[in-house]
Parts: sequence; structure tokens; C-alpha cells
Amino acid sequence: MSMQKIKENIYFVGAIDWNRKLFDELITLPNGTSYNSYLIRGSEKTALLDSVDPPMYDTLAGNLKELDASRIDYIISHHAEQDHSGSLPELVKVYPESRIVTNEKCKSMLMDLLLIPEERFLVVQDGDTISLGDKTLQFIFTPWVHWPETMSTYLKEDKILFSCDFFGSHYATDELFVRDENKIYNAAKRYYAEIMMPFRTSIIKNLDKIKDLDIEMIAPSHGQVYDKAGFIVDAYKDWSSERVKNEVIIPYISMHGSTEKMVEYLRESLTKKGITVKVFHLTDSDIGELAMALVDAATVVIATPTVLAGPHPNIIYAAYLVKALRPKLKFISIIGSYGWGGRTVEILADIVSTLKAEVIEPVIIKGYPKEADFRMLDELAEKIGNKHREISAAD
Ligand code: FEO
Repeated sequence: MSMQKIKENIYFVGAIDWNRKLFDELITLPNGTSYNSYLIRGSEKTALLDSVDPPMYDTLAGNLKELDASRIDYIISHHAEQDHSGSLPELVKVYPESRIVTNEKCKSMLMDLLLIPEERFLVVQDGDTISLGDKTLQFIFTPWVHWPETMSTYLKEDKILFSCDFFGSHYATDELFVRDENKIYNAAKRYYAEIMMPFRTSIIKNLDKIKDLDIEMIAPSHGQVYDKAGFIVDAYKDWSSERVKNEVIIPYISMHGSTEKMVEYLRESLTKKGITVKVFHLTDSDIGELAMALVDAATVVIATPTVLAGPHPNIIYAAYLVKALRPKLKFISIIGSYGWGGRTVEILADIVSTLKAEVIEPVIIKGYPKEADFRMLDELAEKIGNKHREISAAD
């Protein structure tokens, strides 16, 4: 997608990264991504909102050329992370008259990360405005979406919130506006799960902060522009709320089939109780799908064999990820099989100990599961069912 018009004198000038497969060397990108940069022309001044990842600078430069943007007065930097700020050093050279408009914290990070000289900055406070003539930019600090310095810009006259990562999605497409809400819902949920979920309490505060703004459109820094803003705001309210679903997630590894048999049995036992079960075989699962499931689930049951005297290393990775993503889950348990011994439960319990979830007695067995072991799994399913009923009654 090259330059596209959003409204009169408001343009998308960013870059679509169709082929990017990985972000932060961690997050898989099944749909590529985009780095959204926006140009706003007022009757007196011109502002550029964010830039693009440095390898795609030429695309941004080409889009600005297409619009004959020979002068930019303000470059609004919402967030210091390089996928949005990385082209600023080039832009300040090309536009020597421009000032980088941002908050104190972001300024300091941009100076550290990109070596931009202090005199190029214009520092704003929360709620400050800048006039472009017939258009007014208001800066709203929306920190911890996932860095501490992030802010948004509300374009008053056009009722557009430029929200940076907040409400974003890794989604490469030629269509500027959301036309298929199901597709973007999943992409945005994945993005929320992988990036925002650990900062859920800040998300709630930020949602509260924007609730009185008259917003018609939300233009994030990744993915499509929401011309029906309520759709994504409602989704965020749901994801960040305290409510959990009657769901159990079972991430598992099995080396010789014992743990797998336990997982199959527990799945059936839980399903019979009307609980939705999502099983992730970690050898071939997309970890982003696991993160998405964690947004809503009430319970996680980690299933692992014992190897090297502890949990399988892939399970340690998954448990660490669960801990780091800080989902709102209420209950956690562990199941698995061992041959001769090990410290599987202690090691896993230690990793997830910072979660606020209640631990339900693990079921760890010796060898292949036998009748008595299946009864223990039935009891585990019974306990989980009861716990879920208790929390749904309390809702
Ligand atoms: Fe899209 Fe946090 O940068």
C-alpha cells in the first residue's frame, strides 16, 4: 500500500511489511505487519505522526514525495521503539526545520536509542495541544501499552485518535480501513495477548482516559484504521476485564505417550463437564495461539514428562511465557508422568509462583497411566469444574 487518503488533508504514509515473519526475534507474524505513519496538513503547519522501521524508510520517503511534503513542522513521536521511531534520525536531516514533539520520557529514550540531539525536541505535557491552523492535535499520555513513554494524539476537528501500539495489530493488507471485523479481531487479539496483556491494569486506565473523547476513528501504528472505533474499544474492554471464560488451556509435551494419554483423558473428562478445552502440543504449536487463548481462560493445566530430572525444556519455556504474559487466569495445575524421579512440580511451581492464580493439586504419576491415575484426573476435572462454577456464581 502506498500513500492513501484517510480524510481531507490526512494521509497514511507508512509502509506495509508483507514478508516479516518475526518481531523482537520472538513474536511470530502470520500476517506480516505494517508501520503506520500519518501526515496531517493544517492550514498553517504540517505534522508527521511517527515514522517507520528503518529498512522501510524509502517507502515513507516515497509517500511523502508523492504528497509534495517539502516541509514538515512537527514530527510527533508517540513511542521510542524503533519500528516507529527508527527513521527519525533520517527525517530530522531531510526536514531540518522540523521539531520532534514528544513527552519528556520519550525524548530521553530517543536520545539514548537513536542519538537525536536534545535541541530537536519540543516537549509536551499530558493534555497539551498544538495547532496546525485549522486542525488541533491534543496529546494524551497512554503509558505502558507496552513501554512506559507511549502517548496518543487526538485530532480534535476530525475526531481521530492516533493511538500508536494501543489497539494495533500485526496485519499486512492493502485495505486501509477495517472491512472484515473477524479477521482484524483475531489479529488485534493476538497483538494484545503478546504485547499488552502483561500491562492489563494500565490498559484499563488508558481505556478510562479516552472514554470521554468523541472518537470516530482509531488510527493505530500497526494494522488497519478502525473507522468504527467502538468495535475495537469494546474488544479491549472485554480482554482487559476481570471476567474469565469457562475454559481450560493445556500446553503439553509427551516423549513416549504417557503424558499425552493423561492429556487426552483429562480433556474428555473436562469436556463432559461442559468446559471448553484448548490443547497445545508445544512441539508444533504457534506460541501466539497459546497467548491468545490465555486472554480469556480461567485455568491452565501444564502437562509435561520428566526429563533431565525436571520438566521438559519446552514446557519450561511455555511456563515462563505464561508467567511473563501475566494472564488473568484464576487457577493453575500440573499433570505429567515420570520414569524414576525428578523435581518437575517444584521447578514449574517456582516459575509460575508470581501469578495470582490458585494452584490446584497436581497429578504426577509414575509411568503409563493406570486406572487409579485416571481417577485422579477425574478428581482434578471435578475440582476445576467446581472452581469454575464458584467464580461464575460470584460474577
Ligand atoms: Fe510497534 Fe512498541 O512498537
